[in-house]
Amino acid sequence: MTRVKRRSGIAANAAAILATILLIAQHAGAQPAQPEAPRPWLDPALAPEIRAAMTLEAMTLDEKIRLVQGHVAFSFRGKPKADAAIGSAGYVESIPRLGIPALQETDAGLGVTNPRNVRPGDEATPLPSGLAIAATFDPALAERAGAVIGAEARTKGFNVLLGPGANLTRDPRNGRNFEYAGEDPLLAGVIVGATIRGIQTNHIISTIKHYALNAQETGREVLSANIDPLAARESDLLAFEFAIERGRPHAVMCAYNRVNGLYSCENDFLLNEVLKRKWSYPGFVMSDWGAVHSTEKAALSGLDQESAAETDAQAYFGSTLKAAVETNKVPLGRLNDMARRILRSMFASGIVDDPPKPGGLIDYGLHAQTAQAVAEQGLVLLRNRDRALPLNKGLRRIVVIGSHADKGVLSGGGSSQVIPVGGTAVRVFPGPQVYDPSSPLKAIEAEGGGALVDYVEGDDVSRAVEAAKEADGVIIFAHQWTTEGRDAPDLALPDNQDDLIAAVAGANQKTVVVLETGGPVRMPWLSLTAAVIEAWYPGARGGEAIARTLFGEVNPSGRLPITFPADESQLPRATLTPQAGVVNYFEGAQVGYKWFDQNAIKPLFPFGFGLSYTAFDYTGLTATSSESSITVSLDVKNVGTRPGADIPQIYLRRQDDAALPIRLVGWSRILLAPGEMRHMTVTIDSRLVAHFDVAAGDWKIAPGRYIIEAGANARDLSLKTEFTLTAFRSNP
Ligand code: BGC
Repeated sequence: MTRVKRRSGIAANAAAILATILLIAQHAGAQPAQPEAPRPWLDPALAPEIRAAMTLEAMTLDEKIRLVQGHVAFSFRGKPKADAAIGSAGYVESIPRLGIPALQETDAGLGVTNPRNVRPGDEATPLPSGLAIAATFDPALAERAGAVIGAEARTKGFNVLLGPGANLTRDPRNGRNFEYAGEDPLLAGVIVGATIRGIQTNHIISTIKHYALNAQETGREVLSANIDPLAARESDLLAFEFAIERGRPHAVMCAYNRVNGLYSCENDFLLNEVLKRKWSYPGFVMSDWGAVHSTEKAALSGLDQESAAETDAQAYFGSTLKAAVETNKVPLGRLNDMARRILRSMFASGIVDDPPKPGGLIDYGLHAQTAQAVAEQGLVLLRNRDRALPLNKGLRRIVVIGSHADKGVLSGGGSSQVIPVGGTAVRVFPGPQVYDPSSPLKAIEAEGGGALVDYVEGDDVSRAVEAAKEADGVIIFAHQWTTEGRDAPDLALPDNQDDLIAAVAGANQKTVVVLETGGPVRMPWLSLTAAVIEAWYPGARGGEAIARTLFGEVNPSGRLPITFPADESQLPRATLTPQAGVVNYFEGAQVGYKWFDQNAIKPLFPFGFGLSYTAFDYTGLTATSSESSITVSLDVKNVGTRPGADIPQIYLRRQDDAALPIRLVGWSRILLAPGEMRHMTVTIDSRLVAHFDVAAGDWKIAPGRYIIEAGANARDLSLKTEFTLTAFRSNP
């Protein structure tokens, strides 16, 4: 007899039910239902540090490894874009089990980019360049600009914005100067810090970059920026310190280049010693794309996340890092620290509790107004012979010449390139050089009070000259396109534009030049012109901002955040350091105007320079020092006939050390009606009075006499006073 093993009725029933559940689950593509484990770290009431620690506790080794490695978010080397990536610069996989979202990373500091057209047709508001933002000297406006970028990033589904940049301008030929905020650590720190605040009000992570000393593009992936660490603390690192303190970015991007021989992303001094220990930075360090060169060294030197691992020579984190942790070459504690920092930033920024909701409407009209406000306040009037500007509205015939001014305004190239709302107005190769669709010609027509306005291309000099002869208003647009990945070979305007301007200005003495440049350029034709405006790359409404300034609707108030040298011979290095070299920053902390001051060199236009259609007068400079603070005040009066904003600047000099150049220690942007006087007060950050003492590893303030100089720019300081420090208690 065959014995059949019989199950009890209940057991048979249960088995049948289980089989059915499994079947349904398989059909739905899901796992068997598990009781959900509690995830207490998702409680928004808890502090980010506690939430990060709790999450870490629940993570497997593989999950930690997953969190510390990013991937490209575009098709790369024949591999299509990963489905999990929205598509832009990079992404980090989510950990759904723990409720940890993916990081969706997009560039950058001048608007949300769409570099490889991964989302065809995607557009965003192009803000004016970083130098234009810095030229406003207005942190409130920089914050508004940041808020625009952050809002657009968020609405497009991104939770990490890969910007802004805080690299100091050490060389005016650097192809990326336009992305940054100039040559002064206080100005750059204040402006970039404010931009970060604006970005992060949208509950996304802002990444300050490129840390550090990535001051030229030539040879950027191998070049060593060599500098005395003391000087670095007082200059390039101080800009980051100020910006990080003010903006509290949740991430820092280490740069491509080496600093004193060590790659920035495996540089213990930069990452561990200064950023994490001295500045107590609680966020995480991510690498630039392709900037990692090792596993253990990078992890131990302070890199927390490898970005877009596919762009590195090999994936240095991932399974290689896992093996290093398993063999204790990288202690588990260090991996935990990496993961904890990333998690903390995710909780602190709000991306877990209030994730981006892609697909919402973006008010591009409103955002363009912010772009226009930045352009209008960042435009710098460099020359105005016999009050040639503002133009009067009774002109009969105006000729606009060159630089596609009939169609749009230029923007800078590289990873920060924004594909503008309304589409690219003109695309020029090599490049592509992208013109934003804001036509200066149309705006000039609209402002011009009925004048006949013609446009002439700039490539035909004799036609331009003929047109200029017949006009009673001549506005010539000159451009210098700069881009990531390449430095300007020199400070000359390209494509024969110098000859064009000289010929046109020679033919009509009312010629006004509008510059759209990535930074300073030589101006051999300057004395022939009636007026010159530096409009930088002026963004979404650049044409309107320029026209409104030309006709006096806007009174120019931008000030140069960067020295304009007369020529390259005035710079610390007359030529750029060639590929694969070392750049020796022997000038140390004496960057920009400090170099010019220390060496008594007269630039073409100094740092802080900018004219107005009205005039200002400064009186009553006083400086008071107590044991804990130094305060400077002065009165500013509008002594002209138009309302306008002024930016009086305050500089400090050490009395007993004539070799030490001036330092900008404060400013105020003040709007004044004609005849109006205002009192301004500035409290000086003590680090700007101190010097960095490497042996002591800290700032030191020397007792003695200090001179305060105040005025319109770094070389026009009409007021002087002094104060003495005996014992200053609050060392920075
Ligand atoms: C740039 C970064 C940028 C990254 C991602 C790099 O080439 O240096 O500024 O954020 O690419 O696009």
